[in-house]
Amino acid sequence: GRVAVLFGGSSAEREVSLKSGRAVLAALTRAGVDAVGYDPADGGLVGLEALAPDRVFIALHGRGGEDGTLQGALELLGIPYTGSGVLASALGMDKQRTKLVWQALGLPTPAAEMLGPDADWRAVVERLGLPLIVKPVHEGSTLGISVVRSAEALAEAYHAAARYDARVMAEGFIEGEEYTVSLLGDEVLPAIRVEAAGGFYDYAAKYLSDETRYHLPCGLSAEEEAELGELCRQAFAAVGGEGWGRVDVMRDAEGRFWLIEVNTSPGMTDHSLVPQAAAHVGIDFEALVVRILATTLA
Ligand code: DAL
Ligand code: MG
Repeated sequence: GRVAVLFGGSSAEREVSLKSGRAVLAALTRAGVDAVGYDPADGGLVGLEALAPDRVFIALHGRGGEDGTLQGALELLGIPYTGSGVLASALGMDKQRTKLVWQALGLPTPAAEMLGPDADWRAVVERLGLPLIVKPVHEGSTLGISVVRSAEALAEAYHAAARYDARVMAEGFIEGEEYTVSLLGDEVLPAIRVEAAGGFYDYAAKYLSDETRYHLPCGLSAEEEAELGELCRQAFAAVGGEGWGRVDVMRDAEGRFWLIEVNTSPGMTDHSLVPQAAAHVGIDFEALVVRILATTLA
């Protein structure tokens, strides 16, 4: 049957999704799948229903695509879709409530608190320490995020994040190495260590820079990498993640891992991490999209 690849959308990650979706559509077509691209920002759900797809490949990122709302609509329309269901998608999009679930299970994640416009900035810094990272709770691709190294800088960081989201979180910033682990079905793919030229893996380092370095193999011992992989598998399972996803982690100077966030519809651009990890174990981009498409049947 026919597959609709959903991409674009109206979230702040639209540009990233356009790249992911074009790559996915081309690869499915090469693999002989009857696939058609569809941008819900253009025709909404009515246009999608008119296409009458048998299945949907979700290549949307952020709100309206990755956050459970689309997943709920597809459930009601009776159209199978790739990846996580309603609850895991909604929870994974909310960095603070994801953290609450991990904390309840005793999984390691940096301490955090919510900020409002009237927050007592000094008291926040006293409780959480410095440096801090301030982020919109429901955003992706590092949009609206700043690292804060003084109490004076906290208010400005709050307002930068609040442009993206009514809910803003301050979280202890783990200085160390950044890792990401991709999950595909029951498989934990090899970890990647990401090293941004400017020291911070922000939007530009993710999608624009050719200087970001992706270490694969990641440089950990086999034992440490197995520990990291198992932690990420548990972290994904904790939010109810299904099919495929990616978990981002920091490693501090003492070698301890700290869970940062889960992505239930990870980037699939040519700079993206899941395709790199898959390629390392011999799953090329075409095979990867076919495997992800198969998660609609699970
Ligand atoms: N939010 C971006 C697309 C990612 O996690 O890859
Ligand atoms: Mg994310």
